[in-house]
Amino acid sequence: MNQFWNERYIKKEYSYGTKPNQFLAAQLEKITPGKILFPCDGEGRNAVYAAQQGWDSSSFDYSEAGIMKAEQLATSNQVSITTLLADATTIEYPEDTFDVIALIYTHFPAEIRTSIHQKIIRWLKPGGQVWLESFNPLQLNNTSGGPKSADMLYTEEMLLVDFKELHTELLETTTTILDEGEYHQGQADIIRFIGTKK
Ligand SMILES: C[S@@+](CC[C@H](N)C(=O)[O-])C[C@H]1O[C@@H](n2cnc3c(N)ncnc32)[C@H](O)[C@@H]1O
Repeated sequence: MNQFWNERYIKKEYSYGTKPNQFLAAQLEKITPGKILFPCDGEGRNAVYAAQQGWDSSSFDYSEAGIMKAEQLATSNQVSITTLLADATTIEYPEDTFDVIALIYTHFPAEIRTSIHQKIIRWLKPGGQVWLESFNPLQLNNTSGGPKSADMLYTEEMLLVDFKELHTELLETTTTILDEGEYHQGQADIIRFIGTKK
């Protein structure tokens, strides 16, 4: 699968743009900067923006081309981010490391999703938060991006089970208009979640 992403990211343009996801940007404004992790950050738009806002910003992705572009974006914006070329199924961080872990359009198939979400909970400090924005199954009717297989699209029930150890602060299934580069354009059916580690 990372070949798919390398082929998408090999071109000069940023596939999802260089501006941050809007939900993420709004959340970043609300709390004091700390340590944030972006799993599957692609070409770095979100990790770079968080660093610009004063966060200690780390990311990983299994696409070499994505990591290279993330580093280029950080350099051109004169900020520093910590990137790792890694697969979500095998990567580990120490327990209680991050204040926030932001899952922005990270869609995992059912057989690996829950165990990755379990690791993410472990990596959060007590009081730390998961912020998530992804597509929900209604997105199959749209042409604005996202996986084409239903098991990679997230429902409230899935997230409530995966993140049951967290206190749910926000869980909404809604429609929005995406304007994120070439691959997230137009009306989209999404789900947002914020949960706090007890
Ligand atoms: C839709 S893109 C989103 C990129 C970024 N989060 C954003 O919003 O701009 C999904 C990303 O997930 C990465 N990805 C998918 N499965 C992964 C895995 N198992 N380990 C690491 N990265 C993965 C892909 O390489 C790709 O960059």
